[in-house]
Amino acid sequence: MKKLLFLSVAALIALSAAGQKFDNLALTPPMGWNSWNKFHCDVSEALIMKAADALISAGMKDAGYDYIVIDDCWQVSRDENGEIVCDPERFPHGIKYVADYVHSKGLKFGIYSSAGTVTCQRRPGGFGHEYQDARTYARYGVDYLKYDWCGSTSQDAKSSYTNMSTALRTAGRPIVFSICEWGSNKPWEWAGTVGHLWRTTGDISDNWNSMIDIFEKQKDLSRYAGPGRWNDPDMLEVGNGGMTTEEYRTHFSLWCMLASPLMAGNDLENMTPETKSILLNKEMIAIDQDTLGRQAICYRENADYQIWVKTLANNEKAVCLLNKSDEKKSVLVDFELLAGIRSFGRGFGGMMPAPPAGGAGMPGMPGAPAAPGMGTPAGQRPQGAGTPGAANPPTATQQRPRMPAPLTLKDYTVRDVWEHKDLTLKETSVYVEMLPHSVKVYRFVRK
Ligand code: GLA
Repeated sequence: MKKLLFLSVAALIALSAAGQKFDNLALTPPMGWNSWNKFHCDVSEALIMKAADALISAGMKDAGYDYIVIDDCWQVSRDENGEIVCDPERFPHGIKYVADYVHSKGLKFGIYSSAGTVTCQRRPGGFGHEYQDARTYARYGVDYLKYDWCGSTSQDAKSSYTNMSTALRTAGRPIVFSICEWGSNKPWEWAGTVGHLWRTTGDISDNWNSMIDIFEKQKDLSRYAGPGRWNDPDMLEVGNGGMTTEEYRTHFSLWCMLASPLMAGNDLENMTPETKSILLNKEMIAIDQDTLGRQAICYRENADYQIWVKTLANNEKAVCLLNKSDEKKSVLVDFELLAGIRSFGRGFGGMMPAPPAGGAGMPGMPGAPAAPGMGTPAGQRPQGAGTPGAANPPTATQQRPRMPAPLTLKDYTVRDVWEHKDLTLKETSVYVEMLPHSVKVYRFVRK
């Protein structure tokens, strides 16, 4: 009896230790490189090993990119035991050989499959082989699994992904689980306990419209993100040639504001200085990787101009002005107002100042009336309780715990994250010139 009790306790301890190993795997959004956006099915061991080398020589490993992920097309069939078989021509030494190489460089190794019977390129999927594949991946030395949704027909998404998640935990090797079901079944509502990140939309393409369209779809999802559980608006297209440098800078900035996983998707061996300067902007990366793990919310929106705010640790914040239009804009930025924005918590439990009289902070319209809905984060319910100037004062039951006094501009140094300079503000409101499709990102750094 005693022995049984001892064994049960030991098993429980082992299980909870394994649980913790998985839970702490992605406390900040995963960063790395994935083969798909640039190379599609043209993957091979040489390509992956060269990508690992290039990631290091370009300084990306030092900047935090540490996963090298082979996407679709590494696999060709299953053998008589149901074991997955890699393409023997493209991976002549097998997948473990590539994983070992990646590990020898101090990097982590990722692979791809699908929850259905086939992958999106009609290679064998994982359906019915979840536990076997999980053991195989653990044997290969996989650290990250991207699990797609092709070939899934009538499967239930939550149970399919939970099945694979359990299989990975059972196999025992800590593996980041990247759920890729394109947002079809609202994974943000259930995937937080199943995987570490989940795609929220269909695939990105290397053009402005696709990128900005995906970005817009993240607006209502901030509350679901946090350490170990990230919305994934898809991999980066920076450097693939379909957008201007300005647009790529915007793409990268927006993804960092969203606390998105940062998976570069370009040819790392042949990067222009512009591409490098974007992917290696450490100040921007620090905003993405902030330990608080908050996703930005859209604080103000007026047609094609938006202000996004990401609360950072230590009562700091990042503010991103976005000019989505095809025209230049001159925007009036009220830094005092931005400094006073209270923390946005998960679930928007945070507070913010009352809407500015006259639309301060909005583009080129000093004194203009604020547009409807401008007093709340775009598309969100109002957060008036306890806020100075709010229409409805809180009732006793709504009363929140007393918050510390809001910080003001005096408490911060404002840093331009792309100019890499602190601002010298002579006035608290300043006109800022914005190119078409551009951003300005400011970090409010505590003095
Ligand atoms: C789907 C995914 C992509 C990529 C391809 C590979 O479309 O969403 O990110 O993995 O499959 O076939």
